Amino acid sequence: MTIKKPSDIPSSEITPKSTYLTRRKFIAGAAAAGAALAGGFYLRDHLDTATTVHAEGQKLSGIVKSKLSTSETPTSFKDITNYNNYYEFSTDKYEPNGLSKNFRTRPWTVAIDGMVKKPKKLDIDAIMKLAPLEERIYRHRCVEGWSMVIPWVGFPLSALIKAADPLPSAKFVAFQTVLAPDQMPNQKRSGVLDWPYVEGLRMDEAMHPLAIMAVGLYDEVLPNVDGAPLRLVVPWKYGFKGIKAIVKISFTDSMPPTTWNKMAPDEYGFYSNVNPQKDHPRWSQASERRIGEFRKRPTLMFNGYADQVASLYSGMDLQKNY
Ligand code: MTE
Repeated sequence: MTIKKPSDIPSSEITPKSTYLTRRKFIAGAAAAGAALAGGFYLRDHLDTATTVHAEGQKLSGIVKSKLSTSETPTSFKDITNYNNYYEFSTDKYEPNGLSKNFRTRPWTVAIDGMVKKPKKLDIDAIMKLAPLEERIYRHRCVEGWSMVIPWVGFPLSALIKAADPLPSAKFVAFQTVLAPDQMPNQKRSGVLDWPYVEGLRMDEAMHPLAIMAVGLYDEVLPNVDGAPLRLVVPWKYGFKGIKAIVKISFTDSMPPTTWNKMAPDEYGFYSNVNPQKDHPRWSQASERRIGEFRKRPTLMFNGYADQVASLYSGMDLQKNY
């Protein structure tokens, strides 16, 4: 990203740190249980018991395997949760896990607005029931040149879009991360990023079956550091499109602004599809270092999802700054 040049990213930095998440099991307080019941949604459906709250480490149940998963070996839980980009907490890779430990993910609502039949607010526990939870094991390629394989738990973004009921004239969908400077230390600092973090997709990209909203990984509630309680995953694009901790989804007929494009328009395009033939202005995108591996491996067009998604971009010049 703009803060670090490739020469500033020593290979030692992508060596995982061995700090496991503290697995915490929370017993529901009366307020949380009451709120869930008042919404008419029983936590029981996706959890082991009806008396637990969604929190890091909580097991999710009823997860369906997906044919869209890769058979590649997933990166370890330890590495997925200890080598992160979450600039609201820190620009360091290893700090966000610890700093996000107490981030509050309940109560949580997502506002739906813009070009929709009716603006509304959806509760996260209702969102988690829009569709069966699926395991989607996806390759994850960061624009910085590292990659992982992540066993996400989530559901198709298209299910959420259907529930949002956009107008046929909506052409793009925009996402916004929570503004919570009391909990996210870098949102109080100037000169990091323009807050809140925002991202966007063209509507046909958003409706593609590979695009998901993640609410978990490794069969557990999504760790805070990976974007709990709700995070976008678009596996054929660079990782920065996967916006975390979403509180707003807006529909529009014009291309929405995106955080990294605003920061450095010559370096990060709106589309940002993984493309080994299109180098970043400051480094090559031809290869990547899979976390946990020593040798670099070639980066694949559309991160290996070309068969499924290339048709979305027919007629576009992929060598341009897309
Ligand atoms: N979303 C928010 N809100 N803030 C961020 O800093 N970083 C992005 C993306 N989503 C980021 C974000 C980047 S650069 C990457 S590579 C991925 O999250 C990293 O996701 P991970 O930490 O789960 O691997």
